[in-house]
Amino acid sequence: MSEKWWKEAVVYQIYPRSFCDSNGDGIGDIQGIISKLDYLKQLGINVIWLSPVYKSPNEDNGYDISDYYSVNEELGTLEEMKNLFYEAKIRGIKIIMDLVINHVSNQHEWFIKGQNVDSEYHDYFIWRKGKDGGKRPPNNWTSFFTGSAWEKNDLNSKYFLHLFSNTMPDLNFHNPKVIAEVKAIMKFWLDMGISGFRCDVINVIFKSSLKDGKKRIALTGQEYYVSQYGCHKILKELKRDVTANYDCFLVGETVLVNTDMANDLCADNRQELDMVFGFEHMETEQISNKWFKLKFQPEKLFRVITKWQTEVDWNANYLENHDQPRSVSRFGDDKNFRELSAKMLCTMLLTLRGTPYIFEGQEIGMTNGDFLDIEEMKDLESHNVYNLAKELHFPKKLRWSLIKKTSRDNARTPMQWSKNANASFTTGKPWLQINKNFENINVEQNLNDKDSVLNFYKELISIRKNTETLLFGTFKRLNSPKNVFIFERKLKGEKYLTICNFSNKKIKIKFKLNWNIIISNYKRTDLKEVNFLEPYESILIKINKS
Ligand code: GLC
Ligand code: CA
Repeated sequence: MSEKWWKEAVVYQIYPRSFCDSNGDGIGDIQGIISKLDYLKQLGINVIWLSPVYKSPNEDNGYDISDYYSVNEELGTLEEMKNLFYEAKIRGIKIIMDLVINHVSNQHEWFIKGQNVDSEYHDYFIWRKGKDGGKRPPNNWTSFFTGSAWEKNDLNSKYFLHLFSNTMPDLNFHNPKVIAEVKAIMKFWLDMGISGFRCDVINVIFKSSLKDGKKRIALTGQEYYVSQYGCHKILKELKRDVTANYDCFLVGETVLVNTDMANDLCADNRQELDMVFGFEHMETEQISNKWFKLKFQPEKLFRVITKWQTEVDWNANYLENHDQPRSVSRFGDDKNFRELSAKMLCTMLLTLRGTPYIFEGQEIGMTNGDFLDIEEMKDLESHNVYNLAKELHFPKKLRWSLIKKTSRDNARTPMQWSKNANASFTTGKPWLQINKNFENINVEQNLNDKDSVLNFYKELISIRKNTETLLFGTFKRLNSPKNVFIFERKLKGEKYLTICNFSNKKIKIKFKLNWNIIISNYKRTDLKEVNFLEPYESILIKINKS
């Protein structure tokens, strides 16, 4: 088969701090990951995406890197990383790492030195004089983490650009030295044996101008930095000079992209990225004016997924990651139908066309964090949003409802390994509170229950791996009753149907009796006398030629 190996992969994302703590300091670490490789192997995944493990002051949990060539002490050492690569390799698991190059931490040597205007590192960053004799920022751009995208530097009195936190200055990709540094970093890790990168906010690295942007509610300035020509040029250069020489792949995290822009980055002839994470399907909820409540709209989700499936050849499919709430709490029902709806979401995710990504804990149906107050949250972005709302005099209840369901900490609570103390995540005090539901929702329980969410994932992963049509077949959405998503995968005359009921109601439906059930979350074995889909029911069917 000439298809690339990463198209057959099932990727598992590890957020290292929250995965498994080996030394009792309350923070997940590399030894902890190594100790769970056998668990991942039995699950059947074959690629791990490791969120950042580099040296970092952890303002943004490692996405603020202060040295790309060393490992955060809290997480381990370079030797331990090498050991992780080795142990993963002998289990047939490849590893991709996060490549965060839009910005560095203000603790990075480049920035510390670069504050001096005479330093060779000064031009690694984007500096401008402020307006009105330095009183106001150079332009009106706003940051992804709220507020102005500029921060005045005490040492040189100029402003530097930061699209994210003011502790994370953006790198200047007009400077060829910066591009050379990035190439060296990539080679360093690829030579050590990794199989690619997840490229953080990669489509915003190149700023084509620093003019005032069109005023918007959020992200003013975006027309000058989202997917600019210069960005495409740099990605081509990285591919040509670096990744083309390795057996690896690049998945880009791409903000504000539509399907055309995604194709511009990852269609086969582009030579830039291999696939991208879009956000459109993560923005399908309706925001009600009252208390900013989010309302899930299944049909909108189906439409967006269908659009991406049909317009982009190879997608990076995901329902969760470290920046998004838990899918079972968001698109399913984490109270009355938790296991059923988690399995239903699994059925959809693993039968779509593209590479599936599973976020740690998703495979046991972990739910949103059970925080009661902002003080219990650690995420920088959540605090920024909360504080902004406070400045705007939003009442406390409104501020809380603004972040409770959307906070990035919802998915960052520690992995629930067992019903024992601290969910066996740590013997110490966890860095972020563990969800109190760990006594019922944990890996140990899932391993012992043959009908668990985990065992369902395991089975579907194996079905997917062994079914060419599910890997490479075409995608087509079929007509369906309201709140039901039905799609067909087809290859060389072989057909599969995925049917997912996204509601808590029974829904009338008609089946043909000679269809074969491949997997059903209600454990159906045949379609005789089935006239209804049960709440959150999912069925994967193989259609026999008649
Ligand atoms: C990406 C990461 C997110 C981080 C941001 C800045 O969106 O996924 O966690 O805060 O980039 O690096
Ligand atoms: Ca630790």
